[in-house]
Amino acid sequence: MNKLVEDIQKLKKEKDAVILVHNYQLPEVQDIADYLGDSLDLSTKAKLVDNKVIVFCGVHFMAETAYILSPHKTVILPDLTSGCPLADMITKQDVINLKKRYPGVPIVGYINTSAEVKSEIDYCCTSANAVDIVSKISSYDVIFLPDKYLGSYVQRTTKKNLILWHGYCSTHIKILKEDILMLKQHYPDAKVVVHPECSLEVQEVADKIAGTAGMIKYVQQNPEVKVFIIGTEVGMCYRLKKLFPDKEFIPASKLAVCPNMKKNTLEKILFSLETLEPKIVVDEEIRKKALNSINKMYELQDKT
Ligand code: 13P
Repeated sequence: MNKLVEDIQKLKKEKDAVILVHNYQLPEVQDIADYLGDSLDLSTKAKLVDNKVIVFCGVHFMAETAYILSPHKTVILPDLTSGCPLADMITKQDVINLKKRYPGVPIVGYINTSAEVKSEIDYCCTSANAVDIVSKISSYDVIFLPDKYLGSYVQRTTKKNLILWHGYCSTHIKILKEDILMLKQHYPDAKVVVHPECSLEVQEVADKIAGTAGMIKYVQQNPEVKVFIIGTEVGMCYRLKKLFPDKEFIPASKLAVCPNMKKNTLEKILFSLETLEPKIVVDEEIRKKALNSINKMYELQDKT
């Protein structure tokens, strides 16, 4: 075993830490995960694990969500600068203004938002449950923020009237329809699976639109398909290849690399275990309000 990995494993035990890793992380970081998953899986794990320390290998809003759910644990983000440009496209004040403009209209906010934004919304959601959450809200009108592409996918699927914010993921919009059409010429039998954060044009040429957990499920459900064109952050292809070594996963675009997701290196993970820094903490008043929107997501999700 690599010395760095050995040191991480040793310190992890000493500090009673668990390493949660998002599907977009570097291959070597995915390889040391205790739990690997999408935003929803990892939030749920953060709530359920009983380790004292959570090392969150993802971006800032994910570690913040872990803290909101488990404030008594020490939550560490190995690189504090790993933010999410999409989450930064809406502020708490923007949400307050939306409430004034559309009084009484429920607000669903993507998990890719800050704790402050979560403290002002009614329901949180992830790519895995956005359609389910919005469809279970009784109101026909729903404000959905901040991702306009995920929002329009939810709108088409639920047939509700969604009032959309204008945010987008700067990594997913690098995937172009032309990239996919070209790859389809080389791999005519391949199935195209894209994340709902992709542009509408890209969504239109896909066989399946799904978050990262949904992509895994789709591959499992289609055993006869040998090649998949994957329209999301390139780290997902590594995850899929490890799960399904006999299949081929072609990134829809090699440009779809999230620079923030790639900031958590093994060296930084080791350093963060040594120092238990940088810690993620959220103001208690904001945390309680943000927790409410996350809990309402879990309640709706469980409702049949
Ligand atoms: P998933 O929840 O589908 O993994 O997506 C997370 C994300 O941040 C997409 O940009």
